[in-house]
Amino acid sequence: MTFTTTDRPAPIVKSGHVQLSIILAELDKNTLQNQIFDQIRSMILNGQLKCDDPMPTTRELSSQLGVSRNTAVLAYERLIAEGYIRTKPYVGTFVSPDLPDTAFLSADQRTPQTEEQGAAIEVPPPCGALRTHRLADPERRRLAADFWVGRPDARSFPLKAWSHHIKNRLKAVGSNLTSYNDAAGLMELRRAVAKHLAPARGVVADPEQIVIVGGCQDGFNLVGRLLVTPGSTAVVESPCYQGAAFVLESLGATLYPVPVDQDGLDVSRLPKTRGAVAYVTPSHQYPIGVTMSLQRRLELLAWATQYDAYIMEDDYDSDFRFIGSPLTALKGLDRNERVIYLGTFSKCMGPGLRLGYVVLPPRLAEAGRRMKMLMNNGQSWLEQAAMADFMSSGEFGRHLRRIRQLYRDRRDALLGALRNHFGACEIYGDQAGMHLVWKLPDGFPDAAEVEKRGLAAGVGVCSLATGSALRFDDINGGDRLLMLGFVALTEKEIETGIARLAQALKA
Ligand SMILES: Cc1ncc(COP(=O)(O)O)c(C=O)c1O
Repeated sequence: MTFTTTDRPAPIVKSGHVQLSIILAELDKNTLQNQIFDQIRSMILNGQLKCDDPMPTTRELSSQLGVSRNTAVLAYERLIAEGYIRTKPYVGTFVSPDLPDTAFLSADQRTPQTEEQGAAIEVPPPCGALRTHRLADPERRRLAADFWVGRPDARSFPLKAWSHHIKNRLKAVGSNLTSYNDAAGLMELRRAVAKHLAPARGVVADPEQIVIVGGCQDGFNLVGRLLVTPGSTAVVESPCYQGAAFVLESLGATLYPVPVDQDGLDVSRLPKTRGAVAYVTPSHQYPIGVTMSLQRRLELLAWATQYDAYIMEDDYDSDFRFIGSPLTALKGLDRNERVIYLGTFSKCMGPGLRLGYVVLPPRLAEAGRRMKMLMNNGQSWLEQAAMADFMSSGEFGRHLRRIRQLYRDRRDALLGALRNHFGACEIYGDQAGMHLVWKLPDGFPDAAEVEKRGLAAGVGVCSLATGSALRFDDINGGDRLLMLGFVALTEKEIETGIARLAQALKA
């Protein structure tokens, strides 16, 4: 069968700044006038044409589409009659300010485009609510100083070494880019991670227990999919990191918030039910920054053993400890295979790499590999290979030592600047990590207002909500906690930023 089309090419009809791309098909059962009507109506309803945009004249339209003037006039008359466009005598024809048919819009066009942080989209079972967290704000790039949290220093990325390892691997690529590899990750990288974790975090693991993932976020999904069933209990710290809580919630878990105090999670408030999953950040609690005491760690492990629970330990920024020696991770104290350890290269290298690792108890290791295979067949070979080389050459260790010192200096600069401009400050979480928390003194506005005034003065600071923290109540006085990331700013930028913030708050 031969198929012929007599569609005319789509001419661009211009008027003012409006460009209408209309395709007319002569074989279409629809009349030409209806085709013009339908296509202009769609452009208005899907937002291509906006309220009060000027329309081409019927003369322009007819000559450029190659239709009679009468066809264009009839199409316009119907658009006017139904309220899509209107004419202003002696001025021209314009898109109407009141759209008559919003039901025609798709759901996401009808809802406001600004994504409200933490607002849930309800989806049909088996999925739970889907919420979103914000990890960057491109608007803030223009600020004089942005104390955004969780972002490493771009200037310290080991670019030379990284490009050397990438190029080197590409020279001997073999079939690595053209075949599937082990979904659990490149064995060389898993070995290098195991070798790093033993002395650094007290986590002794066989590389077979390790699954390379696309950062902690991928790890939360992997572990969640292994352990969460709809309606099961997911213990989370209150407040906690949104990224993890929202994954657990999306899998149908019921969140069970347990308050955090100076010693970390208040283990006396854990549920007395079996089979829960507990998501915790013991080394540097997110967002408050406190470290879980040894006593609490041991109690948490005992609870997990007693109630057949698993603990997801998120050790996201533990490479940076500024006071004393690094604390052993919870996983390092686990004698009953209750802890699943998650680590990431997002903080010590950069989140653009999307590389992290999950250390599973031996009995879950094979399940972890299979789940990763079902999720995405594993991470990119090239970055894994470069990371393995970067670690085994000793460069990773040197890089960590260098940025740890740099970040410590920046932390000191921030503490000094806060003291100089605001006097004695109540600070949490400054012993480790990449951000600290300042409890705003009485008489100051709350954190959301300080953030607003800071932004107006060209300085970015974060209330808990902006910093991707989920609050369940206000027992920690959460609305007075201000998060300040310090590692991506130079000491000079830190000083300038805090001086400006002080000025803005005085004003
Ligand atoms: C507490 C916490 N865990 C995990 C992550 C996510 O890291 P990744 O980039 O590895 O997914 C973040 C990111 O900021 C975080 O703050």
